[in-house]
Amino acid sequence: MTAPVDIRFLDDPAERERAFAVFWRAMVGLPALGGARVEELVEPGRYLGAFERGAIVGGANSYTSWLVVPGGGRVAHAAVTHIGVLPTHTRRGILTALAARQLDDIARRGEVVASLRASEGAIYRRFGYGVATTSSTYRVRRRRAAPHAAFDHGPVELLDSAASPDRLAAIYERASWTGAVARPPQWWRLRALFEAADPVTPYTVGHADGYARYRPLGTAAWFASDERVVKVDDLVAHSDDGYRALVGHLLGLDLVDVVELGPRPVDDPLGHLVDDPRSVAVVGTRDETWLRLVDVEAALGARRYAEARPVVVEVADSVLERNAGRYIVGPDKAARTKAAPELSLDVAALSSLYLGGATWRQLVRAGRAVEREAGAAVRADALFATGSQPFAGTNF
Ligand SMILES: CC(C)(COP(=O)(O)OP(=O)(O)OC[C@H]1O[C@@H](n2cnc3c(N)ncnc32)[C@H](O)[C@@H]1OP(=O)(O)O)[C@@H](O)C(=O)NCCC(=O)NCCS
Repeated sequence: MTAPVDIRFLDDPAERERAFAVFWRAMVGLPALGGARVEELVEPGRYLGAFERGAIVGGANSYTSWLVVPGGGRVAHAAVTHIGVLPTHTRRGILTALAARQLDDIARRGEVVASLRASEGAIYRRFGYGVATTSSTYRVRRRRAAPHAAFDHGPVELLDSAASPDRLAAIYERASWTGAVARPPQWWRLRALFEAADPVTPYTVGHADGYARYRPLGTAAWFASDERVVKVDDLVAHSDDGYRALVGHLLGLDLVDVVELGPRPVDDPLGHLVDDPRSVAVVGTRDETWLRLVDVEAALGARRYAEARPVVVEVADSVLERNAGRYIVGPDKAARTKAAPELSLDVAALSSLYLGGATWRQLVRAGRAVEREAGAAVRADALFATGSQPFAGTNF
């Protein structure tokens, strides 16, 4: 017999502290963070706890955020995080109860979408989340990767001692690529704590339109090595000039044999930037944003579509049932309709399509969407096409 679990918001800072400790205990592999004050890392009013006989055994948190959708608009977004259940209490439905309550709350707040980063791929689909952005890691053999002739490095500035979170946050705040999400103050604080826990200090280089942060890997054997790698884990570029200037600077670093960049978009133009495209290799690709449309009608209405004939889609949603129904989607409007459906799918599949990361044809072939009218998937792909792959670039 297991005791019933009570789910409620954590109003007391001491409870949030305990829930955070539960998350850190559940999340095997996280480093110890010295000097962490939980109140700096969480937003009041959003942390849900699962209680058994008065003790917290699980939790689910979120941040108030925005997400950039195709066309450049920002929609209200809940950045879901700090999900964990004590290893003594798993597989009793505690996450199921937390996730349902959390989605209900997010809907009540009027937030249009939620997203998260998944520790494991098998957890979140059942709650309506689908993979909406994917990222790649690239390795560039710096000495072979001569930039092509038209490639202008442009002025960059060494920011190291000036790279305060406030300065970087102000640069990041202009993010406008599809899939970008907010980085709230709590996110920057947590990153500073992770940074402090790492013995190797990162270097930061800035440009009027962005910045890049990198650190050398394997510094213990650095000067004896003929494979010196720097890892670029945060590259923000609001313009093509900024992108070329920052990457150009990185490819010009003396001492360095390999520049590893990631996460980056799966269609990053790196291979076209260099004279020898074989100097650039993709060394990994993985799911990034798990997106959940919370208000399907508002979400469909918030993004832009290409010029093509409208389609009628039928959506199933077993968690937020009010989303279930038919929608007509076209370049001029997206709204509920009573018309006969041409395509049917569940909300997780629709969430994968929403930012333009997956195609309708892929999902029909995979059996995740059903085409009820011949040619509807091709038409839907024309409407949903975005021209470039969505990407977040922010882990949380
Ligand atoms: C992931 C986690 C929160 C799941 O909590 P839980 O309370 O055990 O989940 P539930 O009991 O509600 O599981 C619901 C369903 O999801 C499945 N599921 C849950 N976690 C799973 C996992 N890691 N892998 C595969 N299936 C999983 C369960 O088997 C169950 O399926 P069923 O309904 O067919 O029986 C918990 O295992 C945990 O804290 N893991 C370590 C920390 C972590 O990974 N957190 C997530 C960070 S993104």
